[in-house]
Order: sequence, then C-alpha cells, then structure tokens
Amino acid sequence: MSDLKVGLAGLGTVGAGVLRMLARQEAEIAARTGRRIKVVAVAARDRAKDRGVDLSQVAWFDDPVALAREGEIDVFVELMGGEGDPAKAAVAAALDAGRSVVTANKALLARCGVELARRAEATGAALLFEAAVAGGIPVVKTLREAMEGNRLFRVSGILNGTCNYILTRMADEKLSFAVCLSEAQRLGYAEADPTFDIDGYDTAHKLALLTSLAFGTKVDAEAIYVEGIRQLTLEDLEAADDLGYKVKLLGVAVRTDAGIEQRVHPTMVPKHWPLAQVSGVTNAVALDGDAVDLTLVGPGAGGDATASAVVADLAEVARGARPFAFGMPADLLLPAERAPMQRHEGGYYIR
Ligand code: NAP
Ligand code: HSE
Repeated sequence: MSDLKVGLAGLGTVGAGVLRMLARQEAEIAARTGRRIKVVAVAARDRAKDRGVDLSQVAWFDDPVALAREGEIDVFVELMGGEGDPAKAAVAAALDAGRSVVTANKALLARCGVELARRAEATGAALLFEAAVAGGIPVVKTLREAMEGNRLFRVSGILNGTCNYILTRMADEKLSFAVCLSEAQRLGYAEADPTFDIDGYDTAHKLALLTSLAFGTKVDAEAIYVEGIRQLTLEDLEAADDLGYKVKLLGVAVRTDAGIEQRVHPTMVPKHWPLAQVSGVTNAVALDGDAVDLTLVGPGAGGDATASAVVADLAEVARGARPFAFGMPADLLLPAERAPMQRHEGGYYIR
C-alpha cells in the first residue's frame, strides 16, 4: 500500500516529539497499519533553529496554510497552537481540500470545533484530536468509541499537567508558585502563554471537548465556570493538608435535570481518595455512566506523551478510519443547556 504522506506544522515540544517517535516506530506502525507514515513536509517559524531532528529529506514551508492547502500530503498535522490563525486557517484549508487533520490544539477546538467538524464531514476528511485532551491518555477514543452503551452522567478529573505539577511540588517540597511554574515551562508542559494553564482556561478547553463527546452537545467553553490556581499560596496548601485534603485543579461536567453543569476550580480532595494521589504532570479522567464507571490515569503533558496520542491518530488515519469528530454528525449535536453551578457549603467538592 502507498505511504501516508504527512505535512506537519509546528516543530516545538510536541512536533519534534512526533518526528522522533515516527522515526523510532516506523517499521512497527507499518506492520500494524499496512502503511508507512512519512512526514514529507513541515512548517514552523524559524527555519534555522536546531530541533535535534533530521529535516534534510522533507520540504520546508514558511507558511503553514500553504502547506495545508498545496503540500503533496494526505494528512495535515497541526501542532502550532493558538485559537486563531494560522492554526485555524491551516486546519480549515486542509479539511476543505479533503485532507484529514490531526491536531493537539484544544484552544482552537474549544472555539471552532463544531465548525471544523462540519468542514471535515463536508469533504469526508477526518478531524482527530486525541492529543488535545489529557496528553497521553486515550480518553477521546474511549469516549467516542468505547462508551457507546453507557448513559454518562459525569466527566471529571485533573486535566492540566502544569497545574498538577505546580500544586504537587508546592505541597510536597514547599517550593514557590513561580519556581514550580518556570520548571513546568522548562519541561515543555506549559502552554506558550502559561496563563491558559494557571488561570484554568486550558482545563476549560479540554472539559468543553469532553462534555461534547460525553453528552452529545455542542462544544461550549463559554458555559464553564473557570477559576485557576494563581491565587493559591503555600499557606493554603498547608492548611488543606492539616485538614486532611490535597488541593487539585479539577474540571467537572455533570448532567443534571436542569442541564449540564460545567466547572473548573481548585478543589479540596480528601487525601485518601485516589484522585488525591495523582501527582506531578499526571492527569486523571473519571467517566461515570449507568453501566460502567472508570478512571483513566496517565501522563497529561510533555513531548513524548502527547506525541503518542498524535501518532495513534495518524495510525487511525492510515487504517482508513473516518470517525465523526465528536462521535456523531456535527449537525446533530444538541445545544448544551447550562445548569446553574452548585456551590456547596464550605467550599467546592467533587460531588
Ligand atoms: P511549542 O513548543 O511552543 O511549539 C510550537 C511550534 O509551532 C514551534 O515549532 C513554532 O515554530 C511553531 N509555530 C508557532 N506559530 C507559528 C506560525 N505562526 N507559523 C508557523 N509555525 C508556528 O508548542 P507545543 O508545546 O509543542 O504545543 C503545540 C500544540 O500542542 C499546542 O496546541 C498545545 O496546546 C498542544 N499540546 C501541547 C502539549 C505539551 O505538553 N506541550 C500537550 C498537549 C497538547 P518555531 O519553533 O520556529 O518558533
Ligand atoms: N499545557 C498543557 C498541560 C499541555 O499542562 O496540561 C497538555 O495539554
């Protein structure tokens, strides 16, 4: 069978990780999917930057939209980030040309996911985004393909590796917020603009995607109550510890009689609960349904973990899979009725 020709825009933490992983796994993936996955063209801002990967055999594009529209490729991988252009224009151009798209860009999908899903359906392309939610945890595929028989009533968890890394190191090592954040940036966990992480918006973007997949509703990040971790101090974490709690930034979406309640905020989690043990960059996603409850735990950010999800999506494209982006036709997604947020006495709790 012919090679699957890939155009890759974005050669940072995740993009370079994908190139390294594909080089390492080429033979195994070809044996499993029947096709070699070959990156034939790339785009980034700085052509001269050393990225520790061999780019001598690939075409270079300064303009990612031109790569998406005109590159001789079968699939476009968007790993630049940003909720607007050029990411949006490039993804739209690829889908309009009937090329499948793999992206890790939750900010873009939280804003334009339904529109992009419609574009994909119009040309028969796939729009895959496993890497956009919880890094290396295959939660999008789990929701889209493995939970069909369940009526889900809650999706919740730790969805931002940077915040969990900061909260863990502050609590365990008494380090300052600023030191922990700069270490998360150095390790490649944080967004290009880390305010998305620490102010809770990255968690909200991911929660919006999970809510759509779990409840068959339109992606609606505006409906989410968002509070981040910027204001938390060492004293807050110590006080929580004295009372028997760990502080975690949680995203929670619950189906209620009044609609869907969606919230992101620091939460006091009893120390003996499994979620309290999830530390560092690890994420956890709990899916509660009428037939099955399960919790997925794994690395939530970083080059290798995220590349693993991108490569899994590429393998899906190589096999010819064309699932609906949000598990059903975009036009059938329901408006999400917003339920008022429940404020519990004494602070926020998970349930
Ligand atoms: P990054 O390290 O900042 O890399 C971004 C890459 O995109 C760089 O190679 C940059 O080029 C390129 N780029 C940015 N703007 C561009 C433009 N206008 N035209 C052409 N190229 C452009 O970002 P990252 O951490 O890899 O994240 C990429 C995406 O994955 C984001 O959507 C992020 O939210 C998502 N994600 C990241 C992680 C993670 O752990 N890092 C996990 C899950 C999802 P230069 O290198 O030339 O500057
Ligand atoms: N900045 C994000 C995080 C990357 O820390 O979770 C993974 O989506």
